[in-house]
Amino acid sequence: MSDVEALKREAGIAACRYVKSGMNVGLGTGSTVKYTIIEIGRRVSEEGLEIIGVPTSEATRELAESLDIPLMEISDVKSLDITIDGADEFDSHFSLIKGGGGALTREKIVANLSKSMIVVADESKRVDILGKFNLPVEVNPEKFSTVIEEISSICPGKVFLRRTTTNTEGEENIYVTDNDGYILDCEFGPTIVNPAVMERMISGIEGVVDVGLFVGICDAVFVASPSGVEIMVNPEGRLC
Ligand code: 5RP
Repeated sequence: MSDVEALKREAGIAACRYVKSGMNVGLGTGSTVKYTIIEIGRRVSEEGLEIIGVPTSEATRELAESLDIPLMEISDVKSLDITIDGADEFDSHFSLIKGGGGALTREKIVANLSKSMIVVADESKRVDILGKFNLPVEVNPEKFSTVIEEISSICPGKVFLRRTTTNTEGEENIYVTDNDGYILDCEFGPTIVNPAVMERMISGIEGVVDVGLFVGICDAVFVASPSGVEIMVNPEGRLC
């Protein structure tokens, strides 16, 4: 296991301390929270942990099912006790960029339904100002070209339609989300000084399904670095 992978695993497992029997748990998407889900699966099978998970993507659903974690659909959920998820960037105000894995819309729905949200990450995700990671925006496929035009007028860099390589010849297809949307990756650079305003601005564009900015949702970040796992708790959050 590489050093970064070991850090992801440490952060992912550490956050499980908040998961208790009787909880409904939002299960995030990505290579860090994967370790949280594996640990929850272990506790379900070895320790009799009783939870119901709500997956934020089809990939997470498959993983959770393979671990025999009982699941429920988002549409059947009124409220969740906790969500644990990864992030592409987080800042000192607990604002996030998410969506590198394309699951931002379901991730935001699940996080918003939750009484608290914990992020698991390695230290490379910590930034002073959000935006070095290209901001993912999910769009309605019928509107993607007009959304590109509109976002380009506020984005200092390029706006890319996400593509995926499908075969060994390197042929590319447009990436399609679990909701049949497209993803635009927007090259803001570290300029997003007011993520709440930016989120509102982009969400207001016709054809935008959701924006990978999560503001005022994250209650704590478990950050793994070579010196251990730091737990940053949001003083204005719901875990205080
Ligand atoms: C998926 C996400 C992920 O949580 C984010 O991309 C972080 O993933 P990883 O832990 O693999 O770096 O937002 O839509």
